[in-house]
Amino acid sequence: MSISATPPIQPFAITFGADNATLEPQGQVLTRRMSDLEGLFADADAWARAVADGDPVVYTVVSSPVPEVPRELPQSITTIQPGLTAGEFWMTKGHQHPDPQGEIYLGLAGHGGLLLFDGERAEWLDMSPGVIGYIPPGWAHRSVNVGDEPYKFLAVYPGSAGHDYGWVLEHGMGLRARRAADSGDLDLVPFGTPAGRHRTGKP
Ligand code: 6PG
Ligand code: NI
Repeated sequence: MSISATPPIQPFAITFGADNATLEPQGQVLTRRMSDLEGLFADADAWARAVADGDPVVYTVVSSPVPEVPRELPQSITTIQPGLTAGEFWMTKGHQHPDPQGEIYLGLAGHGGLLLFDGERAEWLDMSPGVIGYIPPGWAHRSVNVGDEPYKFLAVYPGSAGHDYGWVLEHGMGLRARRAADSGDLDLVPFGTPAGRHRTGKP
């Protein structure tokens, strides 16, 4: 998109409503249900049962009115509901930015994780209110709710970055975030681990 297509943005302030993660003024609101996450959970049968059983909302993304166009700096707040699908914590789809650029996340509420994968190395950042997670250019990223309450975070990213979801379907994310059956703790397992199998824990 050419720069001339960019609407003139005037300086403005946004009021953040902490209780419901609202923005005023507000832009687009995106709702991702379980059916939107096809091919992403390790246990495809459990995913299909969850879709058939009410197709719950897994996360929402509320954007500010700043458009996703070059040189602008859009922001959004993601709220991931707490939940498990066959032991795997509920999460975002995850994506690469086709135009590799950095991005920052700020934890607002709840307890989550930021999973990063560059195609070879995977990293996990614990996210809680007040923590800033930095996503370097070229690292695919996915957010995970590892707590019992909604996990909310603010994302700020360059408007030219774009979103590639096919990359994650093709390459995976390096790790999966599961709740250990014995301890209930977070268990990060290699991406190819069969559903229900645990790297650690008692047999
Ligand atoms: C972005 C941010 C972030 C992300 C949401 C939903 O680049 O816009 O990383 O706002 O889009 O958390 O995650 P998915 O885009 O992976 O569904
Ligand atoms: Ni992003």
